[in-house]
Formats: sequence, structure tokens, C-alpha cells
Amino acid sequence: MENFEKTLSYLRDKTNNFKVDIVIVLGSGLGVFCDDMEGIRIKYSDIPSFPKSSVQGHKGELLFSNISGKNCAIMQGRFHYYEGHSLHDTTYPIKILKKMGAHTIFITNASGALSKKFNVGDIMLINDHINFMGDNPLRGKNDDTLGERFPDMSEVYCPELKKIAKNCAQELNIDLKEGVYLATMGPSYETKAEVKMFSILGADVVGMSSVPEAIVANYLKMRTIGFSMITNHATGVSDNKLTHKEVLEIGKVSGVKLSQLIKKIIEKL
Ligand code: HPA
Repeated sequence: MENFEKTLSYLRDKTNNFKVDIVIVLGSGLGVFCDDMEGIRIKYSDIPSFPKSSVQGHKGELLFSNISGKNCAIMQGRFHYYEGHSLHDTTYPIKILKKMGAHTIFITNASGALSKKFNVGDIMLINDHINFMGDNPLRGKNDDTLGERFPDMSEVYCPELKKIAKNCAQELNIDLKEGVYLATMGPSYETKAEVKMFSILGADVVGMSSVPEAIVANYLKMRTIGFSMITNHATGVSDNKLTHKEVLEIGKVSGVKLSQLIKKIIEKL
């Protein structure tokens, strides 16, 4: 069983018992969302029992702040499976923030498009996902105080939130795409054959995160919404070689658009 109490008492103490409404998990390049925001910033490395983050382009900080009257916990950087973390560790912060009151979660990431249907720079509302990681964050003894052993997964992404997101995108003149996100364990990008397979399986984009968080959020009965910033065409869809640098650069451009959209949605909640 995880060491929730140590983490919780530290965070409650540091934040003066902040009651979280909304969690926002920021993917690569989305730092712009909260760089100028006021609030209480806590480095992951200072939080007892928190995993350690290492990936370039991710800050590794938790920010407690108020957006449009809602108390938000913003995760600047996440824990990836490919860094060597277990999926339990990857999703530990979500469980902690749920225990601090969170009922809603925004999950964001960068991904590669599996077809030319989407353009680089597009933002995709995640309609559903495929767990291709070969692991599950709920594997192992179930903690019945958190959720049930066999959670239903028919509606991971909240229809009501999706509707609000689409209306907000229209208001902001953002051409919001929709589709299925497939997660691999990474860290290697895909081969052409894998890209073809994922497309046949019904996915629209591929990435290396978010699915474990969405599974756990759903298990915890949190209202979940997910957005993917399309930073590249996947291998073989375009002839370019993939680099993390390119993913971060495009992520920064789309990050401004996605930041506006998330703030607008929060305003409406
Ligand atoms: N594949 C996997 N993960 C990614 C990609 C990709 O093409 N782009 C951004 N994250």
C-alpha cells in the first residue's frame, strides 16, 4: 500500500490545507499555461514519497493556484513509464490530489498523428484511448477505499466536459479535432509497421503517456477530459526523422492555444 499520509500531511501543511477542485496535468511544451501564474509552487523532489522526474522539457513542479474561482493543482511535468517508473508511481500524484478534494482532471500530452487527417499544430480532444503499454496502473492488490477492482471504462472522458470544450473551442476560433489516443510504453518512437498497425487498430494519434492517468482518474470517479497536441506526423506518415526537440518546439506553439482553451473551459465550470 502506498504512503499517502506522509505526502498528504506535507502538502496540506505547505498549502495551508488547500482544497483542490481541478487537476491539470501539463504535457511537453505546456509550461506556458502557468509560467506567470501566482500560487504556491512545490518541487516534486521536495515532496515525501513522490517519484522523481527527469525528462527534458518537464519542470517537475506542483502549483496550487486559483483559476476563475476554482482551486487548481497544476502538475508541471509528469512521471513517465519510460523513465523507469512503475505505473503505480506514475499515477500516485492523481490519487494524492483526489484525496485533497479534486473531482475533475484535465490531462494533456504531445502526440504524433497516425495519418494526414490531422496537421502538425492541431489540438485533438481525446474521445477514447487504447492502452498499448502492456501494463495497467491498477494491477496488484486493490485498495477498496479508492475504487473498485474492475472499473467500467465505457466513458473515461466525460461527455459533458467534451461538450463544453467544443463550445469553448468554437468561441475561441480553435479548430478542435477529435480522436483516439494510443499509448505505447516508449521511449523509442514507432516503426512504420507499428504506425500502420496502430492506425488499423483504430487509433488516430500515438504518444507515451496519459492513459495510465486516465485509467486511474476514471477508477477514482473523477470527471476526466484529455487533449493532445499534435507535434508531428508519426513515422512513415511523413518522411521526417523524429526528434524530442521538434516535439518540444511545436508543443510550445500549440501550448498557447491549448492554454487558452483550458482556461476558458475552467471559466465555464
Ligand atoms: N510517437 C510517440 N510519442 C510521441 C510522438 C510520436 O510520434 N510525438 C510526440 N509524442
